[in-house]
Amino acid sequence: MSRVLVTGALGLLGLKIARLFAQDPGHEVLATFNSPKENWTFDPPAGVLNIADFGAVTALLSDFKPEVVINCAAYSKVDQAESERAAAYQVNAEAVGFLAQQVKRNGSFLVHFSTDYIFDGKAGPYSEEARPNPLGYYAKTKYWGEEKVVRVGCRHLVVRTNVLFGIHEEASKPNFFMWLVGELSAARPVKIVSDQYNNPTLADNLAALVKEAVEKKLEGVLNLAGKTYLSRYDFAMRIARFFNYDHELIDPVDTASLKQPAPRPLLGGVRTEKAQAVLKSSIFSVEESLSFLKKNYESFFAAHPRPN
Ligand SMILES: NC(=O)c1ccc[n+]([C@@H]2O[C@H](COP(=O)([O-])OP(=O)(O)OC[C@H]3O[C@@H](n4cnc5c(N)ncnc54)[C@H](OP(=O)(O)O)[C@@H]3O)[C@@H](O)[C@H]2O)c1
Repeated sequence: MSRVLVTGALGLLGLKIARLFAQDPGHEVLATFNSPKENWTFDPPAGVLNIADFGAVTALLSDFKPEVVINCAAYSKVDQAESERAAAYQVNAEAVGFLAQQVKRNGSFLVHFSTDYIFDGKAGPYSEEARPNPLGYYAKTKYWGEEKVVRVGCRHLVVRTNVLFGIHEEASKPNFFMWLVGELSAARPVKIVSDQYNNPTLADNLAALVKEAVEKKLEGVLNLAGKTYLSRYDFAMRIARFFNYDHELIDPVDTASLKQPAPRPLLGGVRTEKAQAVLKSSIFSVEESLSFLKKNYESFFAAHPRPN
């Protein structure tokens, strides 16, 4: 039996990870989230933990004594981070450094998540050895978070991933997939960038890959992401076609035309050869991911029919 603490467990990835580990009687899971939610019934057991509250982090770690800490908490608002720099730095860098120190002190193991945004997008998809060059402030804070984990020197696995998607109806912010399905099922036209390339990652698949990596006690940096490398526009078109929405609602646009506050890496994404060589769990293609969602979330699609 290993005790596993999951932070940020109300986020897309945190929820999938907490629930997957909790289904396994070999793990005792404590899921924590930033702010309490009314009428929320959570399985596994849950509590509140703001990872930037160092007193609370210290107290919880010495109370629960986790062997593994999986940090899914993040300041993840890419554009807002440009104007909310202190908040982004506090959660993505400073708090991660403190968590790493406590994990080292307790002799436990830290799993932390990073992003392809630590690269400049000139030559993606990127291997674990590629040289980071983050463009925007969110990206910089994520890179500093990685650096802090390595510098503190706790036992760790830094997982780099990209374009997480999935179905999580209690999430505080919709991911790309849920947003797109919402728009297409309401027959609203959308503009999607056709010059940003990544390998979108089903959060449920990532959770399974992370679980195997933790159980295999893998350490260092590991890229875990989807199998299909494509533009965001192509991803949207595949979603529309797969679920029989009207793909003519989707128009391609250039990233530059959106004038977003944070710059985006264009050729992003991460290479997953290393993970494929060491993990048994399969890395899903886009089609496998969409099939998984169709099979496992029937009520979501029933609530989002193709409009007449
Ligand atoms: N989503 C992507 O496409 C993507 C791509 C690459 C890497 N990643 C990385 O993967 C990880 C998981 O991402 P995600 O998409 O699951 O993010 P998410 O859905 O935005 O979830 C992040 C969670 O962290 C919580 N949080 C924020 N500040 C916190 C704090 N101070 N203490 C505790 N919890 C806090 C948020 O809660 P509140 O909402 O209540 O603040 C939210 O529930 C992150 O490290 C992210 O950077 C994500």
